[in-house]
Amino acid sequence: MNFDLTEDQLMIQESARDFAQNEIAPSSIERDKKGEFPAEIVKKMGELGFMGMMVSPNYDGAGLDTISYVLAMIEISKVDASVGVIMSVNNSLVTFGLEKWGSEYIKETFLKPLARGEKLGAFALSEPEAGSDATKQKTYAEKDGSHWVLNGIKNWITNGQSADYYIVIAQTDKDQGHKGITAFVVEKGTPGFEHGVKEDKLGIRSSDTCSLTFTNCRVPEENVIWEVGKGFNFAMNTLNGGRYGIAAQAVGLAEASFEAAIKYSKERKTFGTEIANHQAIQFKLADMATNLDAAKLLTLRAAALKDAGKPYIKEASMAKLYASEVAVKNALEAIQIHGGYGYVREYLVERFLRDSKITEIYEGTSEIQRIIIARQLLKEY
Ligand code: CAA
Repeated sequence: MNFDLTEDQLMIQESARDFAQNEIAPSSIERDKKGEFPAEIVKKMGELGFMGMMVSPNYDGAGLDTISYVLAMIEISKVDASVGVIMSVNNSLVTFGLEKWGSEYIKETFLKPLARGEKLGAFALSEPEAGSDATKQKTYAEKDGSHWVLNGIKNWITNGQSADYYIVIAQTDKDQGHKGITAFVVEKGTPGFEHGVKEDKLGIRSSDTCSLTFTNCRVPEENVIWEVGKGFNFAMNTLNGGRYGIAAQAVGLAEASFEAAIKYSKERKTFGTEIANHQAIQFKLADMATNLDAAKLLTLRAAALKDAGKPYIKEASMAKLYASEVAVKNALEAIQIHGGYGYVREYLVERFLRDSKITEIYEGTSEIQRIIIARQLLKEY
């Protein structure tokens, strides 16, 4: 087993780190306060190839491996988890699925501008009554000539206001359950398609999460992804890919909390010495670093398996489950080490906690990850 990164992977990691520190970090506090979408940053990330990292150059992507993507996600999420999720959705939930299951028409028309970062994507599966229980889709699409007519509501959609192209999952045959679900690409501006107001969230405040409403929205039949009836399968397989992206986001957050805690513990003095010299603090730092390493290794393992063309469903869920829980734990410990200073906005650690919590919820809650892991284990043993 080799834990060394290749020269190319190290180069991507360094360029993501430079971009994160120089271009994202300086304005992240302000954006969190105002809940402002980082439009300029996302545009620059597109120009640098961060929005279509794993898409083949044939479709205008950067053609990089999953490990490079995970490394870049960690660096970017470490300074701003809102930017991290915007990037993760475009890479994992949108471009990945379109390249793998989209028709040539879909790839030429939608994937290419998404991979170049000229257009932004969103993934619309969740509904008011279909979150964890994702097969219970109420959004309905009915065939009418050469179009499908969509009616329904989607909830909690990341990039919901800013996206240009939306992957929308809808029931097309009510009698067929999850085998009667289909995935579509819907363009912003299509008549009958509207987005709601931006949710006022606890964390990742500068990403724009909102609902989507479809009222007799006519979508051309060539916008069907894969084929009619394959939409649930498509969504599940796409989410497997999304989960190591969110795991990487959580690793970035856990690392940010750890680094803030270690820095502060070397500066702050109590009882005549830096608090880093107290065993109570050392034990916390040791646990934070150990958990962080374990989360990072699980995430890189899931990415390495995908790069090797091996099964990675269970491993992606394990990485997402563990890393998201470590992100929350490390943020709580970082606040504890900072004492009262950790509880105020002036220090970043309170934001790390707010931003971390969502990683245990979106792209499948921790409870759903445990279900997926257990079902895979029961198949294997
Ligand atoms: N990978 C591939 N296929 C999968 C799968 C996986 N991880 N999980 C289930 N499937 C397949 C099954 O094999 C089955 O297919 P067949 O009928 O062809 O055999 C089909 O899906 C149905 O599976 P189940 O019978 O297991 O269905 P279920 O209803 O018991 O459970 C579930 C399914 C795993 C709980 C699923 O509903 C699920 O993953 N729920 C969570 C949904 C989720 O993650 N939502 C996140 C929203 S997106 C988001 O957050 C994006 C954002 O903006 C940040």
